[in-house]
Amino acid sequence: MSKTIGVLTSGGDAPGMNACIRAIVLSAARFGYQVIGFEHGYNGLLNNEKIRLSNLHVQHIIQLGGTILKSARCEAFLKPDGVKNAVANLNSNEIDALIVIGGDGSLRGLQKLSEIWSGQVIGIPGTIDNDLNGSDNTIGYQTAIDTALDSIDKIRDTADAFERIFLVEVMGRHAGFIALASAVASGAEQALFPETIEDPHAELESIVQHVECLRKIHGKTSIIMVITEHLWPGGVSDLAETLTHQIGIECRPCILGHIQRGGAPVAYDRILATKLGAYAVECIADQATAIMVGEHNNQPSRIKLVDAFGIQKSLDPYLVKIQQDLFDVVHSMQ
Ligand code: F6P
Repeated sequence: MSKTIGVLTSGGDAPGMNACIRAIVLSAARFGYQVIGFEHGYNGLLNNEKIRLSNLHVQHIIQLGGTILKSARCEAFLKPDGVKNAVANLNSNEIDALIVIGGDGSLRGLQKLSEIWSGQVIGIPGTIDNDLNGSDNTIGYQTAIDTALDSIDKIRDTADAFERIFLVEVMGRHAGFIALASAVASGAEQALFPETIEDPHAELESIVQHVECLRKIHGKTSIIMVITEHLWPGGVSDLAETLTHQIGIECRPCILGHIQRGGAPVAYDRILATKLGAYAVECIADQATAIMVGEHNNQPSRIKLVDAFGIQKSLDPYLVKIQQDLFDVVHSMQ
């Protein structure tokens, strides 16, 4: 049976979204399905901004960051009328299945839609934050780590030259995946992320002690701390100022920001995106709905959409442990 698939990218763009759109279009063609892309996230669904996607549209986009469909956050969609209007447009465009590539807010929206629409809905985890349960990695996460790492390595050069402390703020919204991974990979002296810190201010004394210990006992002249955004009240600039006063040496804040969302996807993200795009179309052929597709131990997997954002995904406990062990080793030598 022929089907028409709608696809959109929503929320924070992530490197690999284009590779995923490409895989959806190419796989749909194999099944004889048509694909309609809605632009600007859920806004496109509400305003009927659409484009029929052919193989030509997705030629040579696998290596591009961003998303050819554009992305946005959509307040209007979150209101009851928003979802109803989206359903009306999906029906008037005779869409049988909708694929949304996005993060947790986007998949929450998709769940709402699935509650009142009879078509199939499939979520694909596309966010640099890696904070969706049910997939070992989300599309864009590995590229974001590499981007952060490239910057942190550069910061190390100037930190060494000036014998300074740098506080590097990375993205992740409220999850520490990027902070932990980029800290481990860069050999940062400390990583601060929300999963292990309840009250940031209560940590101040231990941060100061850690720095003193690294400098006085271990002879470290440059120190890098990687910190998840939104963790420190007042942000890393505030923390840098506080530490400068307390320790008496120059601390500098560095906010990596949206640079982490851009750039060509690394091979891992291109392959993951291609797998998940193809698998989402297979799931549509299989009549599946209200699921998120993902990857577990290198195999395509699926999970109920509600469990993708309703169950908190844990950081790799072993990485957390070895990061903590490094901290303990420093202090055991005091
Ligand atoms: O969810 C992806 C993300 O980049 C988060 O890491 C970050 O907190 C947020 O989006 C930033 O959103 P915006 O681009 O709307 O400022």
